Amino acid sequence: MTQPFSGDAEAIAELTYSRYRDYINPGMADLLRFTGLSYPEWDAEGSIIRDVAGNEYIDCVAGYGVFSLGHRHPAVVAAVRRQLDLITLKTHYFLDIALGELGEKLAAISPGRLQYSFLCNSGTEAVEGALKAARIHTGRRNVIGAVNGFHGKTYGSLSASGRELYKEGFRPLMDGFGLVEFGDAKAMADAVNGETAAVILEVVQGEGGVNVAPPGYLREVRRLTSEAGALLIVDEVRTGLGRTGRMFASEHDGVEPDLLTMAKALGGGVMPVAAFLGTPEVWASLFGTNPYLHSTTFGGNPLACAAAIAAIDTTEQLGLPARSDSLGKAMLERLKGLQGEFGEWVADVRGLGLLAGVEFRSDDVAKLVIAGCAREGLLVAYSLNNPLVIRIEPPLVIEEALLDRALGIFEQSVRGTVEMLAGMQI
Ligand SMILES: Cc1ncc(COP(=O)(O)O)c(C=O)c1O
Repeated sequence: MTQPFSGDAEAIAELTYSRYRDYINPGMADLLRFTGLSYPEWDAEGSIIRDVAGNEYIDCVAGYGVFSLGHRHPAVVAAVRRQLDLITLKTHYFLDIALGELGEKLAAISPGRLQYSFLCNSGTEAVEGALKAARIHTGRRNVIGAVNGFHGKTYGSLSASGRELYKEGFRPLMDGFGLVEFGDAKAMADAVNGETAAVILEVVQGEGGVNVAPPGYLREVRRLTSEAGALLIVDEVRTGLGRTGRMFASEHDGVEPDLLTMAKALGGGVMPVAAFLGTPEVWASLFGTNPYLHSTTFGGNPLACAAAIAAIDTTEQLGLPARSDSLGKAMLERLKGLQGEFGEWVADVRGLGLLAGVEFRSDDVAKLVIAGCAREGLLVAYSLNNPLVIRIEPPLVIEEALLDRALGIFEQSVRGTVEMLAGMQI
């Protein structure tokens, strides 16, 4: 860690809260306080975050997947520092060494015939690009997403996402978008036809509450889309770079998508970096006649590319997909013990790699468990599209002893919450 905060922690907490309330987002300020996190964050290293009051937290949210390499991984920080002394953002007038190198690396690690990359800054931008690519390539406009899917909150991504709450009030959304039940191959077969431009799916619905695609489902969707001349977009914004125990979650089913989106872990926990990847045919449709048909000012800048190159190299050098697989299996087994013990409160435990979801029977219980964890120095995540589910998503580099401690705190918080609520019912 660096230097602890040396000022008045209470004063900076109050000042920051009131600034959030007056200038950022009042509801968010209150929500963060409710979870028990009253002090602003100060510094972070590896799997630990420290606030201005010196409280330390084990990070099992990992920025919703951003911090797969933990916080400030030295290899990524060094790569970005080196680049800072050369050139920072895009000049747009020269070829950039780092962007070319990153493109080659992404092609090497990604499944199937994905070869070309478009670099951008956020997951939702990557999804927007992939949707545009699908429309221009097929000349069709219809897109099929999944109930409870989450692809971001700009118009195309939101239209393909599956929770009504985030759509209300923003209509009209995009024309031609429809939803089917996730994991239901028959429903997909009924929906895909000769007018479908693309199907967009996550392999594990993260914000939907860690819903893992049944084995063979994605392969079947691949077959259906190919048969109909539609494209398959796999959204690996959350799952890419080892999270589920493979470099890409699509590999579990051996699926080769036409387009793949990624973000979060791609920046190594240091820079915001996202990308969508496509096959040579899709790229010919998107850029064949005009190389600027889709473009961005900041995307693929040298700092971002330096971070992404270091992130991929480090993920490979540390064998993080395999680590995620083995630690994830043990974590899931242990969490299933909670379901055995508290079946009346815990409805399900599921996951893939180091992405686990614990589904409670009431979202109030889930909120209390999250707050209980925070009080004991553990951060676990709420799921946007399914508030019954708590996600446990630690950095892939987390030390085994620390993960053990984190799971102990989680178990204790579930036990404490259940005992308190059972006591209140008497
Ligand atoms: C699967 C998936 N796709 C897209 C997004 C949107 O990414 P961003 O928030 O960077 O726009 C998210 C964000 O959580 C996600 O989980």
